[in-house]
Amino acid sequence: MNPDAGLTDQVSKCKNRIERKQARVAIIGLGYVGLPLALLYSEQNFPVTGFDVDTHKVETLNQGGSYIFRILPAEIQAAREQGFTATSDYSQLAGMDAIIICVPTPLDEYHEPDLSYITGTAQSIAPHLRAGQLVVLESTTYPGTTEEVLVPILEKGNRAGLKAARAGGQDGQEFYVAFSPEREDPGNTTVARRDIPKVVGGLDAKASELAAALYGAIFRRTVLVSSPAAAEMTKLLENIYRCVNIALVNELKLLSLRMGLNIWEVIEAASTKPFGFQPFYPGPGLGGHCIPVDPFYLSWKAKQWDFRTRFIELAGEINTNMPYHVLDSVARALNQRRKALNGSRVLVLGVAYKKDIDDMRESPALTIIELLQQAGAEVSYNDPYFPTVGKGRKYDLQMKCAPLKNLGQYDCVLIVTDHSDYDYAQIVSQSQLVVDTRNATRAITSAKIVHC
Ligand SMILES: NC(=O)c1ccc[n+]([C@@H]2O[C@H](COP(=O)([O-])OP(=O)(O)OC[C@H]3O[C@@H](n4cnc5c(N)ncnc54)[C@H](O)[C@@H]3O)[C@@H](O)[C@H]2O)c1
Repeated sequence: MNPDAGLTDQVSKCKNRIERKQARVAIIGLGYVGLPLALLYSEQNFPVTGFDVDTHKVETLNQGGSYIFRILPAEIQAAREQGFTATSDYSQLAGMDAIIICVPTPLDEYHEPDLSYITGTAQSIAPHLRAGQLVVLESTTYPGTTEEVLVPILEKGNRAGLKAARAGGQDGQEFYVAFSPEREDPGNTTVARRDIPKVVGGLDAKASELAAALYGAIFRRTVLVSSPAAAEMTKLLENIYRCVNIALVNELKLLSLRMGLNIWEVIEAASTKPFGFQPFYPGPGLGGHCIPVDPFYLSWKAKQWDFRTRFIELAGEINTNMPYHVLDSVARALNQRRKALNGSRVLVLGVAYKKDIDDMRESPALTIIELLQQAGAEVSYNDPYFPTVGKGRKYDLQMKCAPLKNLGQYDCVLIVTDHSDYDYAQIVSQSQLVVDTRNATRAITSAKIVHC
């Protein structure tokens, strides 16, 4: 039997264009998620157009440059040769077959979902929508966003009165909508992006079919779920699982320190169990755009259902407290050496939120630097990925990367991010005192090291 027999003419044509790699793909939001996705489609010879409101990014890409450390200009240039262009002109959307939205979903100042980037993008897309187009949201968000927020804006704002395809809809007057979460693990070089299965939930069977075809062209496996909300919840489950387990090991680390046990040794031993245990590692606090943020999208939505997500709240409380634990540990280590934190010189190693990446969003290092400064310490930092640290949404540090030499001048060297490029043996040998939040000095035995 022909597998496409149940599909409408419009859907079969679009699917056919995807399968022949002729479908024109639009990626909206050319950041850490959108730009690599655009490059994946371009590598597979799809005609790709990137859209971003940041004109500096658009110009950089069109000149063959890159603004993301791990993406080389050569990759952009190769995509340009394949026809990849970037633009801020939304009217070009009319010529696209598939539109993938990868814009930010942060929390606002009240720690509530800030959907303004999604709603802004939807308002910009709507006037240019045409029948038969597929729109996929990839931004992490609470269950219901695609159907309750994105779709109404697209339906209301388009000139032709088009409706999102739902079961029993009118063919010819429809566009197709799906949600498919991004599951990338930045800095992880063990799994290629195309090997991470892509979860897809369409508003109806036709949208699912098209979205699965679109992602099937660049990912080895697509996993269909029954609705956009199920796909939205899948992503949140994955991140909440991480957030809660990290909180668990952070709490057990605090207890282990008090009991004189090394939590990393314990985790390594537990990891030898061939089933039922997955290792998570403690650290100086949560960072990145996802784990500290996404769980609260669900807590917020849960309130609408008169439901309290207590695991999320508890994990948030423990993880948020970790930078304060680091501050106390530095003060105590200095105190043991008859020094006060007030007036001490502290070098923070690593400001990225995790090792080997150029992303500082929500990094615990920023909170730790502020806490140290408030306590009167004279703080410097070193991070090979950040020559300067300026102003962000929640901080204004205006610091310049200090060279990694004369470490003896600092009263304390504090390892916050365990970048692989650091020579930890050298660092310990040159320093007076090293406070290590990541177990980066595991291979070194020295009285100068304090684990925290
Ligand atoms: N970075 C990750 O590792 C990761 C992993 C999984 C999921 N996510 C999710 O993916 C989404 C995007 O994250 P990111 O890390 O790529 O963010 P980012 O900040 O790196 O990139 C977002 C881009 O969108 C652009 N943008 C904002 N509003 C726009 C608009 N109206 N029109 C066009 N462009 C617009 C910004 O200028 C920016 O270039 C978020 O929801 C995030 O939670 C990120």
